[in-house]
Amino acid sequence: MKEMVIQTNRLTKKYKGQTAVRDISINVEKGKIYGLLGRNGAGKTTIMKMILGLTTVTSGEIKVFNEKLKGNESSIYPRIGAIIETPGFYPNLTGTENLKIFAKLRGMTREDGIKHALEVVNLPYKDKKLFSNYSLGMKQRLGIANAIMHEPELLILDEPTNGLDPIGIAEMRSFIRKLSEERGITILISSHILSEIDQLADTIGIIHKGVLLEESSREELEKRNRKYISLEISNASKAINILEEKLHLSDYEVEEDTKIRVYDLEVSMAGINKLLVSAGIEVSELHLCHESLEDYFKKITGGEGIA
Ligand SMILES: Nc1ncnc2c1ncn2[C@@H]1O[C@H](COP(=O)(O)OP(=O)(O)OP(=O)(O)O)[C@@H](O)[C@H]1O
Ligand SMILES: [Mg+2]
Repeated sequence: MKEMVIQTNRLTKKYKGQTAVRDISINVEKGKIYGLLGRNGAGKTTIMKMILGLTTVTSGEIKVFNEKLKGNESSIYPRIGAIIETPGFYPNLTGTENLKIFAKLRGMTREDGIKHALEVVNLPYKDKKLFSNYSLGMKQRLGIANAIMHEPELLILDEPTNGLDPIGIAEMRSFIRKLSEERGITILISSHILSEIDQLADTIGIIHKGVLLEESSREELEKRNRKYISLEISNASKAINILEEKLHLSDYEVEEDTKIRVYDLEVSMAGINKLLVSAGIEVSELHLCHESLEDYFKKITGGEGIA
């Protein structure tokens, strides 16, 4: 049996009669990175806020560490670290001073937690630089340090790479991976950027308009991404006629007037080429492709896609 760290059961949130999250049941496995993927307004932050008790639950249930959250908040929350909105750091203090204040508020007594957390995110300990002079990347990293300094077992990160440049994004990804691999922390992360979730998450939950469309492991998703032959030709409808008649093709999709995807991989690419060319159709491209995760999401979100 897989051990779950978060399980929600038909979790629902309504804001003044408007449903922001509807009947969402997610399962976050211990030690794994779970990526919530969805467009702006999909409901990602609302789900995280409900788990963290920052907004009320309209209906449904949340279990964390195998216990009902309701009634067990005081034993569960100390085991969680989170970044939801930018934590209110003091601009006139240094990073280390800021963390000391937050540590005190949480009743943390050991200072090596702060030192260690700063090490993980590559920020200097007891540096003189004030928070107000930090770059956005440094601010986000301090946010992570703040979330991990009490050594939580579960980390909840709402769009931790928002606003970062590509190098900042790559760095953030490596910290998150490090926390997962080296410390075995379970991580729930959200993003509206597909490639980000794709590169990090072991399990992906796709949220669209408040509904969980799918929850799959990376392997399951990869299996579902079909292979196909991509054809670029001078005339798609003429080509289709020939392919249907001579090769009895039926599993294909016309993308544009000049582009076809053939999912039937029994036929040889050389055979297709020869046939079309001999019928006077120009073949400008012919190659084997893998349907991307993005294609897949477009399909299940009804063509809207994610990022
Ligand atoms: N406090 C609130 N009052 C009323 N409606 C809200 C409130 N917070 C969120 N909503 C609505 O709930 C829905 C889900 O919002 P949420 O912030 O959870 O989405 P999200 O997936 O985090 O989006 P984003 O990618 O923009 O952060 C949206 O329609 C939003 O307008
Ligand atoms: Mg959000």
